[in-house]
Amino acid sequence: MNSLRDKIDFERLPQHIAVIMDGNGRWAKKQGKLRVFGHQNGVGAVRAVSEACAELGVKYLTLYAFSTENWNRSQLEVDTLMRLLSKTIAEEVKTLNDNNIKLNAIGDLSRLPKYNYDALMKAIEDTKNNDRMTLTLCLSYSGRWEITDATKRIAEKVKSGELDIEQIDEKCFSDNLSTSGMPDPELLVRTSGEERISNFLLWQLAYSEFYFTDKFWPDFGKEDLYQAIVDYQSRERRFGKTSEQITENK
Ligand code: FPP
Repeated sequence: MNSLRDKIDFERLPQHIAVIMDGNGRWAKKQGKLRVFGHQNGVGAVRAVSEACAELGVKYLTLYAFSTENWNRSQLEVDTLMRLLSKTIAEEVKTLNDNNIKLNAIGDLSRLPKYNYDALMKAIEDTKNNDRMTLTLCLSYSGRWEITDATKRIAEKVKSGELDIEQIDEKCFSDNLSTSGMPDPELLVRTSGEERISNFLLWQLAYSEFYFTDKFWPDFGKEDLYQAIVDYQSRERRFGKTSEQITENK
């Protein structure tokens, strides 16, 4: 079988792919195992997708690893996820450096346990000079939190006289989000058959193409990512224009 990779048009590769990694718990339950077993196996999919994106030349990969709402899960699951995240981050620094990948994290990081926060900051520091791809982990993140946070930041700047109200436009707002400097994702992938945005990158996904698959996250591999890109490339992105306007401008 030829790989779906051969069908990818490298001239029209998405620069930024965002992923809602869903279905770890159900994947584990299907095998009569605890939910945390699903998270442990989800790490393999994170590795596969990061590697595939870097190999293809995708510049930004953003993963929804822990939402603001996930704090409401059982203490056992939250603790296990936090430990798994810091252990994985520490273990993967060498691979990130070997592959020239920069680690980044967004979200309300002040809520993370100190050992987790420290491991994250160290890995970010140790990979800061890499420039092939930026891998962003969204931790204690939600889109509404981020928009509220940006609003506070802008209000502070207006209050201090650094910014005039008239200067607040979409560009100014984007610049105050935690994704400042990154292009918006052209493609959002969500696994496990759920078709919701779940408070993820609410501002940034305004014009993104959504790709849903029934596969649970631990089963998602490189070929699945290629499939998502091929599907994305078969779509016409109109940004509110008509199909004729798009064809005329080509
Ligand atoms: C969603 O599945 C997954 C999560 C909340 C956690 C994702 C974390 C990992 C894949 C672990 C490692 C990650 C990194 C970045 C090193 P779910 O628990 O909501 O599954 P369910 O919908 O079946 O219950």
